[in-house]
Amino acid sequence: MSTEDDETDGFESSQSVPVGVKLGSTRTVVRYPDAAGETQTVRTLTCLATYEDAITGSERVLFGEQAAAEYPNRVEFMLRSGLPEDDERTELARRYFDELVETNGVPQDSTVVYAIPTIDNEAGLRNLSAVIEESAIGTVEMRSYPESLCSAIPAMGDGVEAIDDVFVAVNMGSTNLEACAYRRGEQLLPFSTGSVTGNAVDRRIVNNVEEETQGRVHVDLTTAREYKEEHGSVGGFEPFSDVVQQPGGGSHEFTIEESVPDALNWYVDEAVDRVANEFLPDFANEYMKPYQMALSSPIALTGGMACLPGLPEAFEERLAAELDREVDVVTPPAPDTAAAEGAMRIAKRLTGD
Ligand SMILES: Nc1ncnc2c1ncn2[C@@H]1O[C@H](COP(=O)(O)OP(=O)(O)OP(=O)(O)O)[C@@H](O)[C@H]1O
Ligand SMILES: [Mg+2]
Repeated sequence: MSTEDDETDGFESSQSVPVGVKLGSTRTVVRYPDAAGETQTVRTLTCLATYEDAITGSERVLFGEQAAAEYPNRVEFMLRSGLPEDDERTELARRYFDELVETNGVPQDSTVVYAIPTIDNEAGLRNLSAVIEESAIGTVEMRSYPESLCSAIPAMGDGVEAIDDVFVAVNMGSTNLEACAYRRGEQLLPFSTGSVTGNAVDRRIVNNVEEETQGRVHVDLTTAREYKEEHGSVGGFEPFSDVVQQPGGGSHEFTIEESVPDALNWYVDEAVDRVANEFLPDFANEYMKPYQMALSSPIALTGGMACLPGLPEAFEERLAAELDREVDVVTPPAPDTAAAEGAMRIAKRLTGD
């Protein structure tokens, strides 16, 4: 297809393409419409490995799943702590994002909205913004919105209804649990904790597996995350088996029954406790009427951890019990890519669509 065809089919060259970006500690997600108007999703692990070109000797970059699989010992998850903390990790994030944008051909003549976590770390947030703002995309416009607002947008409707609403959003990520009330897009009392997280669940699974197998099996964090993502469920967990190679040769097959559900139950209980006993009381005290309005409408539950089957239902049930009132919890159709989807919808609105 020629360039001219591209222009007549989809976005005309004078029009800006709306792009939504979430640069997360585990995965990065980018959503945008291609030339045919089909929405594309780029979803990759936020990691990078460098290697030497076997012919020219120059340094080459590999990113995402391929980097993690081929260079497991060298791969760098530069946002592991949530944000690029120092110059070195900012530089790595920049190389990662530039590579991702180029490889996937994300349109440069675009309006980019990117989701930023609500974390009290000004330097880290500045570094994150610099990585995206200085990238090749977003030549038309560039804006950032809170991640929990972006993620809530597809939970609340087909457009950007959430922006005109008063509601509570809870975002369950790898390094953070965020809760925030939104009043027509304005953040009221943003709350975040680094102790109730997807990563903490993975660490618990590692310890649990060791205990459940009487010390015979030690899995790494990546394996624990895969157990959680592939087999995790609250309420409907099915035991599964795996095999490890023994140091002295031979293999050992083991079955996991308690390790994963125990870690997830802990997670839901902690999340409910923080929301019900820390965030909501502050919200009720400071904004009585908006609090009542927000709790009578659905609470948006988002972030990768909300993908786990049964988790939103368990969160809703336990939160209702803790507050001793009915609550309605809604999730976006795809909680792990919702931040980029919501950001793209805001971008679309900014381009006048
Ligand atoms: N499909 C899935 N099923 C189960 N868990 C998932 C799924 N996708 C992601 N997760 C888990 O959700 C967490 C990542 O969520 P998310 O992508 O929202 O985090 P993040 O934005 O990268 O992290 P943070 O904002 O906390 O730094 C990880 O713990 C991951 O294992
Ligand atoms: Mg996040």
